[in-house]
Amino acid sequence: MKHDIVEKNLGLMVILVVVAISFGSLVEIVPLFFQDETTQPVEGLEPYSALELEGRDIYIREGCVGCHSQMIRPLRAEVERYGHYSVAGESVYDFPFLWGSKRTGPDLARVGGRYSDDWHRAHLINPRDLVPQSIMPAYPFLAETPVDNSLTAKKMKTLRILGVPYTDADIAGAKDAVKGHTELDALVAYLQGLGTNITSKR
Ligand code: HEC
Repeated sequence: MKHDIVEKNLGLMVILVVVAISFGSLVEIVPLFFQDETTQPVEGLEPYSALELEGRDIYIREGCVGCHSQMIRPLRAEVERYGHYSVAGESVYDFPFLWGSKRTGPDLARVGGRYSDDWHRAHLINPRDLVPQSIMPAYPFLAETPVDNSLTAKKMKTLRILGVPYTDADIAGAKDAVKGHTELDALVAYLQGLGTNITSKR
């Protein structure tokens, strides 16, 4: 039988196994690059404002993604707790996306608008003032640190190359839009924007 040839020849078997697995991956992964569902923004998706974009970078810098996911799975328990499950088209302006894989704290994909700005400020300065049993770290220094706006416009230009539809006016105004704000302002602006773009589906 021809199969014997493969089974008795380890080198050949390794090559054929790799070919079989690669083919499986190709069939699963390649179409995703061409489907509108995964490459096009959901209706109403807005690029991050200059301040939100800086807030997002602070979120990355402080490692919030290490404890918070931004990916609601299509399971009843999750949808009832957090809202509509996440869809790929919500993340097309995210470079890199922050879906995360660890939920020490709650998912934040739809936290925008759930609390007031004042709640977020107090919570980030000291989570235990609001949630006594919280194990989230306190970030009081954010309230005293001005946002560095020297690179905001450059970041937006780079994102535009990657397909985020920033206008020339957005980029020209970026520095001033961020000026005078603290890192806490930026982070709260970012959090308040999370998930608000598909409100219509909620
Ligand atoms: C060590 C893990 C950990 C880290 C790091 C962390 N958090 Fe949390 N976070 C939690 C836990 C646990 C809770 C739930 C208790 C609470 O509300 O404080 C929480 C709650 C929250 C909530 C309220 C969510 C809700 O739906 O009630 C927000 C918003 C939040 N975190 C934002 C952040 C941001 C922004 C950062 C980064 C600056 C951050 N977290 C870093 C663990 C963490």
